[in-house]
Amino acid sequence: MDILKSKFMEGFVRLTDDAFRKGWHERNGGNYSYRIKCEEAEMVMDSFSFDRDFAPIGVEVPNLAGEFFLVTGSGKFMRNVILDPAANTCVIQVDQDGKNYRIVWGLRDGGRPTSELPTHLMNHSIKKELTGGRHRVILHAHTTNVIALTFVLPLKDEVFTRELWEMATECPVVFPDGVGVVPWMVPGGREIALATAELMKKYDVAIWAHHGIFCSGEDFDLTFGLMDTVEKSAEILVKVLSMGGKKQTITAQDFRDLAKDFHVTLPEKFLYE
Ligand code: 13P
Ligand code: ZN
Repeated sequence: MDILKSKFMEGFVRLTDDAFRKGWHERNGGNYSYRIKCEEAEMVMDSFSFDRDFAPIGVEVPNLAGEFFLVTGSGKFMRNVILDPAANTCVIQVDQDGKNYRIVWGLRDGGRPTSELPTHLMNHSIKKELTGGRHRVILHAHTTNVIALTFVLPLKDEVFTRELWEMATECPVVFPDGVGVVPWMVPGGREIALATAELMKKYDVAIWAHHGIFCSGEDFDLTFGLMDTVEKSAEILVKVLSMGGKKQTITAQDFRDLAKDFHVTLPEKFLYE
């Protein structure tokens, strides 16, 4: 079967368009990857070619050996993916050591996978292990309000999580584990990939100070929905701060009551007075 006709390609592409329309992806900002299921890869194997050379990933991901990923291209614009997925995305395969990758489909007119490939694959590696293979989607975007908050709030997991939770009652239910914050670092390399992966051991959301956000999820809907929820909450906080700050809010005890009724566990480190 032609990969362009596959269900997973359709779902992948729909998200790129939705996310661009949200204003999360100026120019080539942001990038995105999907760990293709075995049965999906088998179905579209005719579309793949295995003649290209392997190149180093920059990090080691042994538990992803042999796996296929659908990934956006470096320098490609998210808004163009829907027009021409074969020119703006690619499928890569990780080698047997988990140290190298090769392109097996896509980037028809040349190019390479996103410059954030080390972070994407490190996150996939951690999440595959910790979720028993359930998480398959990693999305990086330049969400305006989350970025704005990194200039104002202390760059601490506890502060970002609590402030975002307070801005919308559904937030602690959608991301009960909280969010992590990576201080400003040079993007595109091994160091920021390792720092992000450390946070992904605890959270599904990692904020990059003065840059953007990474979300991990099981499927396209849940990952998009998670980012949408976090960014909307950040937007409310930006508005509240612009109006002179909170005059009342959801309290730590309110969160404990909510946790009981909604059957979620909220770590006490976020419920400080
Ligand atoms: P790429 O175009 O290489 O994906 O980079 C965009 C980006 O957001 C870097 O953080
Ligand atoms: Zn970025």
